[in-house]
Amino acid sequence: NLSGLDLRAEIDRLRKDRNAVILAHYYQKPELQDLADFVGDSLELSRKAAATDADVIAFCGVKFMAETAKILSPEKIVVLPDMDAGCSLEDSCPPEKFRSFREAHPDHIALTYINCSTEVKALSDVIVTSSSAETILAQIPTEQKIIFGPDRHLGGYLNRKFGRDMLLWPGVCIVHEAFSETELLKLMAQHPGAPVAAHPECPPNIVEHAEYVGSTSGILQFARSFPGDTLIVATEPHIIHQMQLALPEKIFIGAPGADGNCNCNICPYMALNTLEKLYLALLDLAPRIEIEETLRVNAKRSLDAMLAMAS
Ligand code: 13P
Ligand code: SF4
Repeated sequence: NLSGLDLRAEIDRLRKDRNAVILAHYYQKPELQDLADFVGDSLELSRKAAATDADVIAFCGVKFMAETAKILSPEKIVVLPDMDAGCSLEDSCPPEKFRSFREAHPDHIALTYINCSTEVKALSDVIVTSSSAETILAQIPTEQKIIFGPDRHLGGYLNRKFGRDMLLWPGVCIVHEAFSETELLKLMAQHPGAPVAAHPECPPNIVEHAEYVGSTSGILQFARSFPGDTLIVATEPHIIHQMQLALPEKIFIGAPGADGNCNCNICPYMALNTLEKLYLALLDLAPRIEIEETLRVNAKRSLDAMLAMAS
């Protein structure tokens, strides 16, 4: 029974005792973002995981992120507060089917979104995140044939922006897929002049209304610099916590789903992590990410390629 405990104080004590670093993604609950040592997007969190000298990484995010930390820092103990924190993009791309897809296109390289399993990373040539995809794609010669998975919306956005014809795996993020264009247009009409910032995991009928399209950290950067007083945010709404901390005088509105509010766009996987589960993860050093060594080394090649090309 944890009800009598001051969880924040206990987490602080364990963080010191264990020489642990707490990393959190912007989609985590505000209380987890607030006590993390570092909050960031997928690329920034990978870099922190690769560089930390802590003995333990407590990853407040989803499983593919914690696995990335373990791939890059195998000597560290990596714990994920809830091992069921998965991702619909990862689920859409079973490794055996991805292997067949690759084998059917032997003259293509595999450029793969980081939101996938370790097995799929091991079958890929270069990993990208939403903040590094454009820089990395720009370095690949236009005549090079590419398969891109698992997010067809990010892949489609890159194809349109760069005039490429990458073959797309048909995966989607269930969170970004849930925005409603009709409700977004109603909201825009209620706030004339308010720009929309969207994540490239959104479908094209949402992205086309956005003044800014980019990763979570890119959207945050845009929120710090846009000239108006109201911003419509088309990504997982927990990121608004960081916007309100940085700019309390501005108004940030989560883009709506079909029910007219932004609660249906909360990521159900990210939401599994709680203060209680983080406390228990630091106490028990479990649930722990473990990856078989050959698989880890193979997956690390495509991640290292990303880190080198992302500059
Ligand atoms: P970024 O934070 O890299 O933009 O990724 C968004 C996301 O969906 C993570 O699951
Ligand atoms: Fe996966 Fe989408 Fe959740 Fe990110 S927001 S973890 S892409 S389901």
